[in-house]
Amino acid sequence: MRYRNFPMVPRIIFGRGSFNQLGEIIEPKRTHKDSPFIFIVDDVFKDNKWLTSRIPLKNNDKILFVSAEDEPKTKYVDQYRDEIVAEFEQLPSGIIGIGGGTMLDYAKAIALMLTNPGSSSDYQGWDLVKNQGVYHVGIPTISGTGAEVSRTTVLTGPEKKLGMNSDYTPFDQVVLDPELTKGVPDNQWFYTGMDCYIHCIESLDGTYLNTFSESYGEKSLELCRNVFLEKDVRDEESQDKLMMASWHGGMSIAYSQVGVAHAMSYGLGYLLGTKHGVGNCIVFNQLEEFYPEGVAEFKTMVNKHQVEIPEGVCKNLNDKQFDIMIDVALGLVPLWENALGKDWQKTITKDKLRSLYEKM
Ligand SMILES: [Fe+2]
Repeated sequence: MRYRNFPMVPRIIFGRGSFNQLGEIIEPKRTHKDSPFIFIVDDVFKDNKWLTSRIPLKNNDKILFVSAEDEPKTKYVDQYRDEIVAEFEQLPSGIIGIGGGTMLDYAKAIALMLTNPGSSSDYQGWDLVKNQGVYHVGIPTISGTGAEVSRTTVLTGPEKKLGMNSDYTPFDQVVLDPELTKGVPDNQWFYTGMDCYIHCIESLDGTYLNTFSESYGEKSLELCRNVFLEKDVRDEESQDKLMMASWHGGMSIAYSQVGVAHAMSYGLGYLLGTKHGVGNCIVFNQLEEFYPEGVAEFKTMVNKHQVEIPEGVCKNLNDKQFDIMIDVALGLVPLWENALGKDWQKTITKDKLRSLYEKM
């Protein structure tokens, strides 16, 4: 047996209002007075002074407002990298992502692409990144994706939807301030929270499970159940708990893997641009045969919160489109292997995936 030696986020600050300490945290990392910090910020915060007034800008530091409308794409990563290189003489001191999984993934990818040549699409896969990126900080403003802790940055490229998985990908610093999640719309809060719930189910039900992953996955599941089943309001306690559920869920899959829902959700995301959280919900809703208890509990949470899970998204697709989704999903070998074991290809055929997608 060969065990993998994973990197971790080396520094983390947690607490309501901890965002106010960002300036003192990053300033020692400034490499040169002309070497800026670039803040990649979800453009929903553009007019939100409560947040933007606290971004600690100095010298030539810059805020880049980025839309989270689309899932992160390799072409945008390359474009932002090129713009930063063209505008500043010095390599940035750091890239700071403030937002949901999309902003965090952009921050990680841009930080890596400032020191690795070529296009980010060249690095979609496992351990293809050669050089350490610039200092990068992740500050989630919605909980669930686990992007704050993961060693990947999931990107849609010209050929596939796949992350840049590498030892250089994890953030150098994470700021967990649950207060930043208070304005998230209910639907998004639910879909992204379910991303975390599904991480736990896929990890705890997977063949890659080990005590490390189990201990984090169980804690995360307990927190998710508290937030989505036991509580009736989104209060401060539930903001704190969901933020830590996301962290623990991310830790759980870091040393195991996700499963069927993620593999198929990537297919949807690639073809239709479906956002990760809602895509997972659309898929998971149809996965009783793989995760009977998890799907039943998921449906209870959907009912409790009266959230609509889209249906019929594959209704009008043609054969070619189905094949594209199926190929993206089948390409995620470790996910299938975790879900169903080494012989997964015996049960997961193109026809099988087609019949599942047709239900969605
Ligand atoms: Fe996920």
